[in-house]
Amino acid sequence: MYFSRSDINSITRIRRLNLINSVTGIKPANLIGTISNSSSTNLAIISSVVHLSSNPPLLGFMLRPDNNVPRHTFENIKETGYFTINNITNAFVENGHYTSAKFAKEISEFDSCSLTEEYLFSMKYLENIEIKSSNTIMIVGEIEHIEIDEIALSDNGYIDLEKLDAVGISGLSSYYNLSKIIDLPYARVEDIPLFSNNESIDITE
Ligand SMILES: Cc1cc2nc3c(=O)[nH]c(=O)nc-3n(C[C@H](O)[C@H](O)[C@H](O)COP(=O)(O)O)c2cc1C
Repeated sequence: MYFSRSDINSITRIRRLNLINSVTGIKPANLIGTISNSSSTNLAIISSVVHLSSNPPLLGFMLRPDNNVPRHTFENIKETGYFTINNITNAFVENGHYTSAKFAKEISEFDSCSLTEEYLFSMKYLENIEIKSSNTIMIVGEIEHIEIDEIALSDNGYIDLEKLDAVGISGLSSYYNLSKIIDLPYARVEDIPLFSNNESIDITE
């Protein structure tokens, strides 16, 4: 199936939202936790967390500030300068999903979605970068603490997401289990394997 730009423009808003939100493939499933100066906690599912650099250890995520709908996550981050990021596992996919509902500021998603707060300030807010073309901002934060189940940590430092039962997100409503296919070495030109039959694979199929 082929979609031209004018096809994309003419499909219904919800279909376009679903198509464009799932076109990139699997996104990470995380909950951003924040607290206001008046001690109201807030939790929001966010699928746009990205690695920015390892040294310094920086992560970013996208937020769409909306003049009509207040973004409690952003308000709290600006107030306190801190936020947490928690990876969603299979055990609490549904609880995590429903944190996206538009709760009033004084209602904590932790209570409403049966999740328990742990007060660990793991990300320090550094800056927000405006992306004018999409009217969104990227929040940039520095990792201060990482807590991880040891069974998932390999000797070389990689995290095995399958062992953690971590999940992936497609679009805004589909959740996937993750299963590791293979670990491959750092790709050096002199080590390229001989692919079977030397037949080129059509990646468009
Ligand atoms: C699967 C999924 C992924 C989402 N990812 C993002 C995201 O990356 N950025 C964003 O701004 N909102 C995202 N949302 C929407 C927020 O979770 C939702 O707007 C939430 O109410 C924001 O919380 P707040 O108003 O308390 O800050 C996502 C929602 C779902 C269901």
